Amino acid sequence: MTTGSYDVPGLPERVTLYEVGPRDGLQNEPGVIPTDTKARFCRRLLAAGLPVVEATSFVHPRWVPQLADAADLMTRLVDDLGERARELPVLVPNERGLDRALELGCRHVAIFGSATETFAQRNLNRSLDEQFAMFEPVVRRAREAGLDVRAYVSMCFGDPWEGEVPLAQVVDVGTRLLDLGAAQLSIGDTIGVGTAGHVQALVSAFGDRGVGVDRLAMHFHDTYGQALANTLAALQSGITTFDSSAGGLGGCPYAKSATGNLATEDLVWMLTGLGIEHGVDLDALVATSAWMAEQLGRPSPSAVVRARSGSAV
Ligand code: HMG
Ligand code: MG
Repeated sequence: MTTGSYDVPGLPERVTLYEVGPRDGLQNEPGVIPTDTKARFCRRLLAAGLPVVEATSFVHPRWVPQLADAADLMTRLVDDLGERARELPVLVPNERGLDRALELGCRHVAIFGSATETFAQRNLNRSLDEQFAMFEPVVRRAREAGLDVRAYVSMCFGDPWEGEVPLAQVVDVGTRLLDLGAAQLSIGDTIGVGTAGHVQALVSAFGDRGVGVDRLAMHFHDTYGQALANTLAALQSGITTFDSSAGGLGGCPYAKSATGNLATEDLVWMLTGLGIEHGVDLDALVATSAWMAEQLGRPSPSAVVRARSGSAV
């Protein structure tokens, strides 16, 4: 079933979807997912037309055991996909992570900072200020090696320990990460508490500090059911890169109140309805998430996956 498309004036004509399911989604699974299954998940997401698929994290394996097979997965993907696998972004928190990514020839890496003191401690074992000292040589060396660097900033709308996070604090951390040399900043609503006006206020606060929408991406988790409304608000502000996870998988192991990301299928459905180009084959994506839900042994939380799989609509 389709419902046609109805343009809303003033929205972008096309957007880039940055798929985080294999990383943000699978980092939070209670069980161990076989490397083969992860590789197949990545291949199917690429085949469904997703232009960017973040594959894994070179974090400490004791901190995120679910992704301890990062090197094996990347090796498998290089065997399967050749050079294209090296274009898949991977998370690297520190120089050790960067070394591991460089050994495998990865071309796109992402650092991940925190807008709050408490989450910096819990997620990175560093203070808010110390995180920049950890990231500085990562970004410098990555750029010297010709890599593309993205920076995430987490807890941009609220923090489970510190409550609401002031706009200026998020902009301070975000601009410091960009000043290190990151090309793009992904604004994380890690625990999914943001609302539409807050999104527009934050984008505007970045604009006031000289950071245009071309350097920003939005990374919404859907804990409070606001992710699509927030996406529409971000589109109205001119944002054109959106992170999402196939089937709505995910969460953050160091923020227990975080649930999955905005489901890529739900995002694709809305974008198609708005006549915004995204390049994704929805049927292939739904089939991928339905298959992944079988592997994980539970239904997908995505409304669109539930509506479309196992029925004729
Ligand atoms: P640490 O314990 O402070 O590390 O952890 P350290 O620098 O003190 O090193 C201790 C030992 O760990 C050393 O070994 C290092 O070599 C080793 P030793 O010399 O004692 O034998 N080590 C490593 N080994 C492998 N790979 C590495 C690595 N680093 C050190 N990369 C660290 C600091 C940053 C490593 C740790 O806190 C960590 O791994 N944190 C990751 C947490 C994480 O992955 N969280 C989820 C991702 S963030 C997220 O999901 C949010 C996001 O989606 C956006 C949003 O939603 O907001 C991005
Ligand atoms: Mg996340």
